[in-house]
Amino acid sequence: MLSKLNWRKVSDPKIMRNSVCITVARSTPIQLRIIWFSIPKANELAILVRPLLAKSKIKEWLMSIIAIVSHKGGTGKTSFVQNLAYELSATRRVLAVDFDPQANLTLGCGLDPAVERTTIYQALHDVGRTKEAIVTTGENGRFHLLPSHLDLALAEQTFAAHYDRNDKLKDVVQQVAANYDTIIIDSPPSLGFFAFNVLTAATEAIIPLQCQPYAFQAVDNTLKLIELVRKGNPTLTLKAIVLTLYDRRVTLTQSVENAARERFGNLVPQTVIPTNIAVVEASLDGQPVGVYAPQSTGAKAYRNLAAELYGA
Ligand SMILES: Nc1ncnc2c1ncn2[C@@H]1O[C@H](COP(=O)(O)OP(=O)(O)OP(=O)(O)O)[C@@H](O)[C@H]1O
Ligand SMILES: [Mg+2]
Repeated sequence: MLSKLNWRKVSDPKIMRNSVCITVARSTPIQLRIIWFSIPKANELAILVRPLLAKSKIKEWLMSIIAIVSHKGGTGKTSFVQNLAYELSATRRVLAVDFDPQANLTLGCGLDPAVERTTIYQALHDVGRTKEAIVTTGENGRFHLLPSHLDLALAEQTFAAHYDRNDKLKDVVQQVAANYDTIIIDSPPSLGFFAFNVLTAATEAIIPLQCQPYAFQAVDNTLKLIELVRKGNPTLTLKAIVLTLYDRRVTLTQSVENAARERFGNLVPQTVIPTNIAVVEASLDGQPVGVYAPQSTGAKAYRNLAAELYGA
């Protein structure tokens, strides 16, 4: 029998990916999902049993909705979403959600954001239009995109007076969640409406940490925000803090890495995302780097990260 969940604050390293900080006893389905994500190697196990669970209720509890967040601009969030989504789509049905009015993910997936189409903005107004907005990207048929448009910039003001303004994206995502194994959400550099919505919709968060000055200030602010959102979304966990735009030739890189590993321990994956021109070229070509240059250091890094974090 399960008795109670012994959660600690997000800032406590024990809430990390591989921690076993839970006292198990009487549990609801939602609590069971939290436990599942807290057991080391649970995701590897999930791959083996997924076909058996596909039609059961348990599948809903295992599903990951991953928010890639940092309020600092240019930390590699969008590239991360596109390339992790692509790598995970090798074995899963993945939806990448572009929740950024800049629509860089949409562009990076080869769609012109200026073209008139149904996008996430219409879906926010009417969740019934979510499926209509989703497009298949790539060749394996398992990588889908919910595109964005500059219109999305209006959302913050449009929904400002709505009591449920922070649940808007969650409602959209839940509309199609049953069709996917993993949903990954891109967000703009924000601590407001956009970041609240992304974290409210998510079951886990990943923070890209760029090896640059002020890197930790950005992480600290994002951690505070996660802790704040957890009051309304207690299922949200911090999955990882990933070193991005990593360049060994820059002296600061090693200092940032050492400090990050010392402070956040096993929350920082061994895999880092290196600075690699193929990642830039791939997005300009409208493809994931794993398709554009599969042997590049960037492609290998995202592949390794998918394996390290999700057993993919
Ligand atoms: N691994 C990489 N190597 C080299 N350049 C990269 C890499 N990842 C991303 N970039 C480039 O760095 C810039 C910022 O990346 P990206 O757009 O992914 O960051 P972001 O955090 O989403 O930015 P924003 O906060 O504006 O949304 C882009 O020009 C992108 O092509
Ligand atoms: Mg971006």
